[in-house]
Amino acid sequence: MSRPLEGKIALVTGASRGIGRAIAQRLAADGALVAVHYGRNQSAATETVAAITAAGGSAFAIGSDLAAKNGVKVLFSALDEELKARTGATQFDILVNNAAVAPFVNFEGTTEEVLDEIYAVNVKSVFFATQEASKRLRDGGRVINLSSVVVRMPVVDAVAYSILKAPIDNLTQVLSTVLGARSITVNAVAPGVIDTDMAAALARDPQTAEYVKTKQSLKRIGQPEDVGDVVGFLASPEARWVTGQVIEVSGGTVVTF
Ligand SMILES: NC(=O)c1ccc[n+]([C@@H]2O[C@H](COP(=O)([O-])OP(=O)(O)OC[C@H]3O[C@@H](n4cnc5c(N)ncnc54)[C@H](OP(=O)(O)O)[C@@H]3O)[C@@H](O)[C@H]2O)c1
Repeated sequence: MSRPLEGKIALVTGASRGIGRAIAQRLAADGALVAVHYGRNQSAATETVAAITAAGGSAFAIGSDLAAKNGVKVLFSALDEELKARTGATQFDILVNNAAVAPFVNFEGTTEEVLDEIYAVNVKSVFFATQEASKRLRDGGRVINLSSVVVRMPVVDAVAYSILKAPIDNLTQVLSTVLGARSITVNAVAPGVIDTDMAAALARDPQTAEYVKTKQSLKRIGQPEDVGDVVGFLASPEARWVTGQVIEVSGGTVVTF
């Protein structure tokens, strides 16, 4: 079996569940040592680590609340400690900014608290996690951000989530130039509806899932592994000449009238 990430170290935020878990499993299957970050669900992160280990990979869990003011600092001090113990250094190779929250709240119902939390987890922590990571990433490394089809097609009933995914695409472009001098690529993947807790209302309600399929060229509900495999490619040496791009992973969601 080919292990293109042998010797590499990856940090995946929000890898306790959903898409982040699938990304962590894919990167570990490709040979990377994976830091499985979680927010509140330590037991779910432990399950991700156990699944990776059972499949012959290597991983460890680290927790930090990215809605908290010092969340990114806590994350990187835990990462530094683990990496020093395991490798004697704090360098790593791949950052996947995946953690996010997506409350379904319409325009009228969006409070300052709701908007602030989405901004803190989905935008601010991505900015500062990448800033911290850039001090530790080895040349030739990878940054992969989770965008969404909502940038192209905002969801009216998740308005704050929709507007606050747009900055991820812009940041991906900016950072591809900032970090390009060190041959670090920066890309984003933009999933459509994927069967996770976040999109349960769309993916797991049979009637809504049928409606979602009518909007896609491919007639099934997307799975976390559909995203994990594309992230695996972007993390691999084969993607060395791809940077500053947002790659939609949506089964062709509304690509024609
Ligand atoms: N599912 C979709 O249809 C879809 C579509 C487009 C884009 N996306 C994007 O894909 C990414 C993953 O989504 P998902 O569907 O896998 O979501 P999910 O199942 O809800 O999982 C979210 C992850 O983020 C972590 N997280 C949430 N709040 C946090 C906080 N305050 N501090 C630290 N970690 C926190 C959670 O950790 P804990 O459980 O440990 O708290 C969990 O691991 C997100 O960026 C999302 O916007 C998803």
